[in-house]
Amino acid sequence: MQGNNGNITFIRDGVRLDGRRVDELRPIKIEVGVLSRADGSCYMEMGDNKVVAAVYGPREVHPRHLQEVSRAIVRYRYNMASFSVEERRRPGPDRRSYELSKVSREALEPVILTSYFPRSVIDIFVEVLQADAGTRTAGINAASVALADAGIPMKGLITSCAAGKVDGQVVLDPMKEEDNFGQADLPIAITPWGDITLIQMDGDLSRDEFRQAVELARIGCGKIYEIQRKALLDRYCQMESAAQEA
Ligand code: CDP
Repeated sequence: MQGNNGNITFIRDGVRLDGRRVDELRPIKIEVGVLSRADGSCYMEMGDNKVVAAVYGPREVHPRHLQEVSRAIVRYRYNMASFSVEERRRPGPDRRSYELSKVSREALEPVILTSYFPRSVIDIFVEVLQADAGTRTAGINAASVALADAGIPMKGLITSCAAGKVDGQVVLDPMKEEDNFGQADLPIAITPWGDITLIQMDGDLSRDEFRQAVELARIGCGKIYEIQRKALLDRYCQMESAAQEA
């Protein structure tokens, strides 16, 4: 769709390029316990994003000098597969993946009861198999579910989602075209009681738009939280009935 001055028209009659309204999330799918060798795992789709999270631990820290005497350390590795994006990505870590690993760890750490496991480590690996904007949010959501699946004691699940701005309007959960060619992108992560553990922003938003975007992303997180909870409950109901049958 071409608008004036050659730019893309993102919203026509209140409908976005992929058919969503401004306050709609992309379809979400969550599967818990997909990897048998991990202590906890989760596969998640948020629109065309496909990510897998694997959690190992609490376990011994290597190298040992990283140990903390009063708590477990948390490590988070975000990795994008070379085939996950349109233009093949060079394998291995880069500045972007270091940044996303750091902010994602910081988004999850506040709810993990690390003091229960001194001198140990909780490792979280997130692999992006297919990317379509919002991979950090999908990764955090999947990691949060994988931590619960691993039985890591937590104060609550962390949920993450972005809001953006396209055609001068604030929209929920931007997909790739909206993220790449839109006017702003604002991912957040929150606790179930509403504390923000991650907030980042690219682009330009007025004060009012900023408030609107945070509010919209919060509402989106509320909906995703219910899906995360349901996926975990379904998994444990399944396991319970399998155990009863055995
Ligand atoms: O994925 P997220 O929105 O958290 O991070 P971003 O750095 O804002 O990237 C937005 C999107 O750009 C990614 O989800 C990918 O679809 C795309 N991208 C890409 O095509 N190639 C890269 N090397 C990095 C990102």
